[in-house]
Amino acid sequence: MKITLLGPPGAGKSTVRDKIVEKYELFHLSTGDAFRAEIKKESEIGIMAKKFMDDGKLVPDDIVLGIVGAQLGEKENYILDGFPRTIAQAQAFQASGENLDIVFMFDIDFETAFDRLNNRVNETKEAGQKLRSDDNKETMKKRFIEYQEKTEPLKEFYKKENILITIDASLTKREVLDQVSNALKNKGF
Ligand code: AP5
Ligand code: MG
Repeated sequence: MKITLLGPPGAGKSTVRDKIVEKYELFHLSTGDAFRAEIKKESEIGIMAKKFMDDGKLVPDDIVLGIVGAQLGEKENYILDGFPRTIAQAQAFQASGENLDIVFMFDIDFETAFDRLNNRVNETKEAGQKLRSDDNKETMKKRFIEYQEKTEPLKEFYKKENILITIDASLTKREVLDQVSNALKNKGF
């Protein structure tokens, strides 16, 4: 199975990804996590990506496609978290021969998602851990704008492909996971 989770910042993509990976023992790729790992290594890709991420902007498509191609290889089964995020990424991914089975679109109002990001900030601080450098109010707002402008058009794109499943991401963690699990079961996965 080849699936992806899309949705605004704080929608709960990575939370569900962790559970699905655990249940199905799937290979997973989060482009956000991949870039954060590159930033930590201070690699060339990391240095380039950091400028965009810290400004709440999407990383340019060619850089994203490079990292996805390198990490995905010829995998038959996988779950993606936060890729593709632009029509150009989706088209290039398809052109490379990758056919997704399901695109889960996490539907949530921005206010609820924003509250969740702020909760994550508070919990991270309480745990004495390092905050994500894009988890501050100003950058969060920019991430929502990028999502609206560049990622939301993918809804129509994948609807036409007949592989879009909309998830009500405003519900509890359990309820959100159940929607995704049931959809996977219905598709025979
Ligand atoms: P990325 O790391 O993907 O961040 P994001 O999309 O902004 O989303 P988040 O990871 O912040 O939120 P999430 O939806 O995973 O929510 P979570 O499960 O953590 O991308 C970061 C940056 O990298 C981008 O801005 C861009 O610059 C770059 N990038 C990445 N991919 C790219 C691409 N393809 N193209 C170009 N650039 C790219 O949940 C949030 C909080 O809510 C947690 O505390 C969680 O415990 C809680 N929570 C989760 N679910 C629930 C629930 N149901 N109820 C209550 N609380 C919940
Ligand atoms: Mg995430």
